[in-house]
Amino acid sequence: RRVLVLNGPNLGRLGRREPAVYGTTTHAELAALCVRAGAELGLAVEVRQTDHEGELLGWLHEAVDDEVPVVLNAGGLTHTSVVLGDACAMLTAPLVEVHLSNVHAREEFRRHSYVSPHAAGVLVGLGAEGYVLALSWLSSLDS
Ligand code: DQA
Repeated sequence: RRVLVLNGPNLGRLGRREPAVYGTTTHAELAALCVRAGAELGLAVEVRQTDHEGELLGWLHEAVDDEVPVVLNAGGLTHTSVVLGDACAMLTAPLVEVHLSNVHAREEFRRHSYVSPHAAGVLVGLGAEGYVLALSWLSSLDS
């Protein structure tokens, strides 16, 4: 089963970006972890990252058309983007929202998400492990 892991703005800078908040794992390492964990779970995982809202929307439209489950960390767009929420609303396969940091323990504006109303579940504050747990849950739906 194919799964898209989609990462939004600034997540390409993981490893160097506020390591006290986001850890020292780079995006390449996170992507490799997701692909490896997915393979062990019987999932064909594809990891993508963009700093462009329109590109992220295009990938979500692709997931809509192909009925592919999505693991989404939309970064700061999570808290600001109506159009992102609208795209998530169109998904038919399960959507899991992930945030590396515990968004509820930070600034108030990070507590609101345009993604959450459309997500089957949300994993926050568990770092890269949150992605692995999301993939594990998605794989459990197939068996
Ligand atoms: C984030 C949390 C967001 O608030 C922030 O804007 C990010 C990363 C996380 O993974 O913890 O870019 O989504």
